[in-house]
Amino acid sequence: MILIDSHTHLNDPDLAGDLPAVLARLQEAGVTAVINVGYDVPSSRRAVEQAHAWPFIYAAVAVHPHDAVTFDDEAGATIRGLAGDGRVVAIGETGLDYYRNLSPRQRQEEVFRWHLDLARTLRLPVIIHDRDAHGDTLRILKKAGPLPAGGVLHCFSGSWEMARQCLDLGFYISFAGPVTFKNASKLREIAVRVPLERLLIETDCPYLTPEPHRGRRNEPAYVGLVAAAIAAARGLAPEDIAAATAANARRLFGI
Ligand code: NI
Repeated sequence: MILIDSHTHLNDPDLAGDLPAVLARLQEAGVTAVINVGYDVPSSRRAVEQAHAWPFIYAAVAVHPHDAVTFDDEAGATIRGLAGDGRVVAIGETGLDYYRNLSPRQRQEEVFRWHLDLARTLRLPVIIHDRDAHGDTLRILKKAGPLPAGGVLHCFSGSWEMARQCLDLGFYISFAGPVTFKNASKLREIAVRVPLERLLIETDCPYLTPEPHRGRRNEPAYVGLVAAAIAAARGLAPEDIAAATAANARRLFGI
């Protein structure tokens, strides 16, 4: 199988201890590229450094909605500078998180809009985090209008109606470990309805570990389990989902 993990955090300090082993396992599993996603200034910088060190790692840079409260002019200038690096293929992750509400909602929205503007200016795709904020995410995306390089709703958790509207806006839809969970039949139904040419898969490592490893630390080598769960739901071979989502990731991120 040829796989691309479209959203992972190899920059997470949790992986620093055994990164070489994690990288060896992902290559063994057939993962040919990963998008290493920043969530604050230090992790964005680390994502870029790792993308320079390994040819199959690409970087995305941004400040996560959790940290919107810390986002200031200096952070913005740093993210903008990093985004010009040749190994940076996307702006993200950015968006809204009303589940943990670690930053005030108004501030999350301002910082989200700032990242959408940056993605538009640099003609880079945007990686969107939306947790329990479906209505506001959709409102902001609609108001922003079509983005020159599009983007992806990562770890999608909304309804089919929301997915349909995001598809209409030109976005890709990405599924992570939760699509493998036993009680996730509604999410799998959505994964079945998303057109094959707009589908992405990811691990969001070290979080959201797919079955049967749920409860342990996640890593890119497990992205094939996400492909297999979607393939089973769609009546396809895992290789078909792997190939389609890898082609989609190459198209969206220009890699
Ligand atoms: Ni993430």
